[in-house]
Amino acid sequence: THGDLSFRVRDLALAEAGRHQIRLAEHEMPGLMALREEFGAAQPLSGARIAGSLHMTVQTAVLIETLTALGAEVRWASCNIFSTQDEAAAAVVVGRPETGGTPADPRGVPVYAWKGETLPEYWECTDEILRWVDAEGVDVGPTLILDDGGDATMLVHDGVTAEKQGAVESDPQPGDRGYSGEKLVFLATLRASLASDPQRFTRLAASLKGVSEETTTGVHRLAQLAATGDLLFPAINVNDSVTKSKFDNRYGIRHSLPDGLNRATDVLIGGKVAFVVGYGDVGKGAAESLRGQGARVIVSEIDPICALQAAMDGYQVARLDDVIGSVDFVITTTGNVAVVTAAHIAAMKDKAVLGNIGHFDNEIDMAGLEALPGVVRTEIKPQVHEWTLPADVDSDGNARAERSVIVLSEGRLLNLGNATGHPSFVMSASFANQVLAQIELHTDADYLQVGEGGTPDVHRLPKELDEKVARMHLEALGADLTELTKEQAEYIDVDVAGPYKSEHYRY
Ligand code: NAI
Repeated sequence: THGDLSFRVRDLALAEAGRHQIRLAEHEMPGLMALREEFGAAQPLSGARIAGSLHMTVQTAVLIETLTALGAEVRWASCNIFSTQDEAAAAVVVGRPETGGTPADPRGVPVYAWKGETLPEYWECTDEILRWVDAEGVDVGPTLILDDGGDATMLVHDGVTAEKQGAVESDPQPGDRGYSGEKLVFLATLRASLASDPQRFTRLAASLKGVSEETTTGVHRLAQLAATGDLLFPAINVNDSVTKSKFDNRYGIRHSLPDGLNRATDVLIGGKVAFVVGYGDVGKGAAESLRGQGARVIVSEIDPICALQAAMDGYQVARLDDVIGSVDFVITTTGNVAVVTAAHIAAMKDKAVLGNIGHFDNEIDMAGLEALPGVVRTEIKPQVHEWTLPADVDSDGNARAERSVIVLSEGRLLNLGNATGHPSFVMSASFANQVLAQIELHTDADYLQVGEGGTPDVHRLPKELDEKVARMHLEALGADLTELTKEQAEYIDVDVAGPYKSEHYRY
């Protein structure tokens, strides 16, 4: 704590390095800078208290400072234990140059994030962003959540459930489905809160006007809550803005996947065989980047449409089980659970590289890997581990020699764990959607209206705003948009100013 500002970051001395990177990132984030220009004077987020749980990177720093430039108060944590860029976190705490903040006298935003948090620390940080105390010392809570993956939203929802029941569900036991260290720590966090303040989450839920969610996995969680009528406040699905998922998930991954692989291993990709599990938006970007590096890419899918897309794009489509012994890289992109099992890992080639780029670390069965008899884990460097498997016999009775597999970021998303995530330009489009979603939730009471089931709903931003975000990024790329003539607009039944496509158009 410094004066009124409390925070938890690695080292404020890193702030200058962070500020230089933020300055360059601002140049690459035309969408966010245009929103500062458009809304800076009107302060549409004045009175908003935003609790953000999203990878604390340089790009996120520009997002945070856009939200404050529009009038919001902000508290921030990362949504992953490995994804923080410590220099960016420090710079945000110290504050923008015009605040006059220094490492000795920070004047920025309370950030609770550093690279390499433990799981208990992770949940402490997520809990911290929800603790909002006003000048009189009253815990007023945030009015909005800005989430990536849904952990902050889940903490509030599970907290409310626990408070209603007066108890937290019992811990899963080793061997139970769903057992994980993560869950144990999460439940402990809830128990501590319940013991100290049994109505805290109920109050929080009442003060929250809504959440905007960044990613596919978090949207999936929101949809589950809405379907059972358990969603406590309205949500905006930012992921499914076209200018988010069709750009960040695809072109962002195309950049940050090879970045993560190279920084982690520096193993040549060209000429090797790379297996991409899943061919959704992330899988498409992953496969394209690996092919671009000269790898022979194999894709697996469970959805026949996506499998056909992969085939038409020229990839071999196969099952992981059938080719696992001959691939050099395995990358998971599904957002699903246990798509790579311990048996798959045991069947991999010596020194093959295994990494996940989906949101959670359960896509690769890390617990199953740890439990393999005789397995030895060697740290090559942080977030890069060699798992050595003893000589054994496979299920067909064939002898296997001792071999090892390189696992990146302990099964967590490797582009953020082993590198610095997506580049600024693509995040500008994603985060412009986030800022617009926060403004919508803060200023437009229509979102508060309940859906058909009598409970809040998950919304998407209107297409006008999606097109607006795209427009804001064209000039910087030197792209000249063609304007419809009035005659053409009438002929295809759209307005000259848009929107140009029907809701069901898929881009
Ligand atoms: P998506 O739904 O477009 O794609 C996932 C694909 O995986 C689907 O086509 C699905 O049919 C397929 N799939 C599911 N189970 C499978 C299985 N067992 N085997 C093979 N294929 C399977 O989702 P999207 O947008 O591509 O996101 C995927 C994950 O990546 C999510 O967890 C999302 O949150 C995360 N994500 C990570 C980013 C990062 O920077 N690391 C950026 C954006 C998203």
